[in-house]
Amino acid sequence: MESTFDLNKIPAQNGRIAIVTGANTGLGFETALQFAKKEITVVMACRNTKKAEEAKGRILAEIPAAKIELIPLDLMDLASVRLFAETYKKQHQQLDLLINNAGIMIPPFQKTKDGFESQMGVNYLSHFLLTGLLIDLLNATPNSRVVTLSSKAHETGVIDFENLNAEKSYSKMTAYGQSKLACLLFAQELNRKLKTANKTTVSVACHPGVSTTDLGRHMNKVFYYVFMPVFQFFTHKPAKGALPTLMAALDDDVQGGDYFGPIGFKEMKGPPAKVKAKPRAYDEAIASKLWSISEELVGFEYDI
Ligand SMILES: NC(=O)c1ccc[n+]([C@@H]2O[C@H](COP(=O)([O-])OP(=O)(O)OC[C@H]3O[C@@H](n4cnc5c(N)ncnc54)[C@H](OP(=O)(O)O)[C@@H]3O)[C@@H](O)[C@H]2O)c1
Repeated sequence: MESTFDLNKIPAQNGRIAIVTGANTGLGFETALQFAKKEITVVMACRNTKKAEEAKGRILAEIPAAKIELIPLDLMDLASVRLFAETYKKQHQQLDLLINNAGIMIPPFQKTKDGFESQMGVNYLSHFLLTGLLIDLLNATPNSRVVTLSSKAHETGVIDFENLNAEKSYSKMTAYGQSKLACLLFAQELNRKLKTANKTTVSVACHPGVSTTDLGRHMNKVFYYVFMPVFQFFTHKPAKGALPTLMAALDDDVQGGDYFGPIGFKEMKGPPAKVKAKPRAYDEAIASKLWSISEELVGFEYDI
């Protein structure tokens, strides 16, 4: 398989607006930077205003004409998600691209403000609510897209309805895998619902392979520094890791339900292309059950 995506060939898209969650660093930052280069207005949805301002400054230093806005968003708190959506809707009448990017990996056990296990809360449930609160605006914007970040970790993920928020036990890697599988099931189920309702909005997903971002901040430091010199042969820099997101957001040939990732060795690095998730990510019965439970958990019913 070959990659057909060439970011240089994507035309400028003045007049379009994108929200990128977690845009202050890593893959989110690279995504925001490339959107700005394509003249897309970028709304950086970040929890730390100081870091977000610094990141905005780095983009403006490279692209002085960039249109960058900041709206605070803390995915550990559903009230913050609601306030973000309310603020965005007061300021904008359209939304072309929603990039559900922010995430955490293998933190010590912690609950969100609303009592969810933090990885399920931040990576999945808050993005589920955010997308739902913005779906009317997305649907009112022709050819809009929702791009949700998953991971190769979905391959070992299982949706355990008896232990969705670590009610019984907590294994940080199991919880990460579950949250990233949930993101994929959500992307697929959302797309099915949009298609049934004949909307032009599409929902797609992507994964970056393995990219050297801050995501490993909770990893064992000894492991990290001993293995990194070897590991780096199997990883790529954030600018490359963001390419599957950029392809999912900007490529003309994207179809709803597509999944993008790097196509090098074991999908760990390499140029971006359409890839296949594990069969469990396409399980419609589990996706539908997860959707209903998610609506109950976040207290919001989708209207598509
Ligand atoms: N890097 C990889 O190899 C890899 C592999 C597979 C999947 N992914 C996925 O790619 C996405 C981006 O990760 P990354 O690698 O770029 O990691 P990163 O460098 O750690 O960036 C994560 C971003 O998410 C933000 N974030 C974390 N908790 C948040 C919260 N409560 N509210 C709002 N924002 C929050 C972070 O903000 P702060 O800076 O304030 O913490 C940061 O901006 C994640 O969904 C991750 O699961 C990454």
